[in-house]
Amino acid sequence: MEQIGVGVIGTGWCGGIRAVTAAQSPLVRSLQIAEIRNERLTEVAERTQPTRATTDYREILADPEIVAVMISATPETTHHPMALEALRAGKHVLLEKPMALTLPEADELIGVAETNGLKFTIGYSQRFNPKQALARRSIDDGTLGDPVSVLISRHITRGLGDKISSRIKLSPAAMEATHDIDFALWCLEPRRPVRVYAQEALGVLKPTRDVADTMSIVITMDDGVVVTVGAGWSLPPGYPNFSSTWIEFIGTDGALLMDATYKDIILNTMDDGVVFPLSTMPGESVGHVYAGPMERETQHFLEAVVYDRPVMVNPRSARQTMEVYMAADLSAERNQAVELPLVGEQAEQALEASVRV
Ligand SMILES: NC(=O)c1ccc[n+]([C@@H]2O[C@H](COP(=O)([O-])OP(=O)(O)OC[C@H]3O[C@@H](n4cnc5c(N)ncnc54)[C@H](O)[C@@H]3O)[C@@H](O)[C@H]2O)c1
Repeated sequence: MEQIGVGVIGTGWCGGIRAVTAAQSPLVRSLQIAEIRNERLTEVAERTQPTRATTDYREILADPEIVAVMISATPETTHHPMALEALRAGKHVLLEKPMALTLPEADELIGVAETNGLKFTIGYSQRFNPKQALARRSIDDGTLGDPVSVLISRHITRGLGDKISSRIKLSPAAMEATHDIDFALWCLEPRRPVRVYAQEALGVLKPTRDVADTMSIVITMDDGVVVTVGAGWSLPPGYPNFSSTWIEFIGTDGALLMDATYKDIILNTMDDGVVFPLSTMPGESVGHVYAGPMERETQHFLEAVVYDRPVMVNPRSARQTMEVYMAADLSAERNQAVELPLVGEQAEQALEASVRV
């Protein structure tokens, strides 16, 4: 069996999961990790036994042993420059969302990956949840008939909302709804989004972080299918990084209604009260098994590299998702619908509405 050298850059929450998964994979000959927080570097190194544990990710990019890298660093301003360096160094790349802050940056990454013949994918992990996969299959195999409308509501805790918005001023559209926009557009392929209308609602995060608590986004597809995504990050504290999700797919021949919250397990203890284990978005390991999408997503990327298979999330579809959430930010700012694609002056205005670093 062919094996490869793999690097993980930024071994926080997500990068830690990716590093552990890579360390366990029979496709990985050697693992190298980079993390600027020494304590976390040591912690992940103890769990994964890498051949290199460094605070300088460039050491990993310079090593010809490394064939593929996963970039999970924050803040999100690191994504585009790190991915560009990695692709230019000839590495296959899995990059956490958002893939970049601007559309030209996204285009640049796609261009370098295509020119260099490299796998390049974005971490839209929800595609690897079985419930979301069922929705996609129910559209693909005609079970629901022709799609009519999609509704997705997602909320995460304010602790996570605060963590995210303390490091970058991106909206709930860019950081939360992005998962559900990607998922809905994936299910509805090859339809394309043509119009976006959005509203933001202010609450507890406005005074402290100057961002909205939730955003409601209506996306019209080119054949008239309407997608509604509501996403927020101000739930009171719950199970660490609790995420709630409700999904409706309505078609001409059927409907699929799903609670994708993973709240079917109630753990009630004297110390912590009621919590909902396994309810985070990336998932978590439970002894010898993993519950959630991020392990499988990571394995899929490694398989795509080793066996030269297509990646699940084509970067062009990630760019499309980016265009939609930027249009949502512009729409919320202007209180009017925004037509896609974003070009010329409107693209500039969307950038100003979306990125407030
Ligand atoms: N797919 C999902 O379900 C999902 C869930 C959460 C977060 N995310 C995305 O994943 C990314 C990571 O999120 P997180 O919650 O793991 O963040 P995190 O802050 O827990 O981890 C990021 C790590 O990157 C490290 N880092 C920063 N600069 C670095 C550098 N130059 N070299 C090496 N390490 C560096 C930080 O020290 C930190 O430990 C985010 O951009 C987020 O958008 C995806």
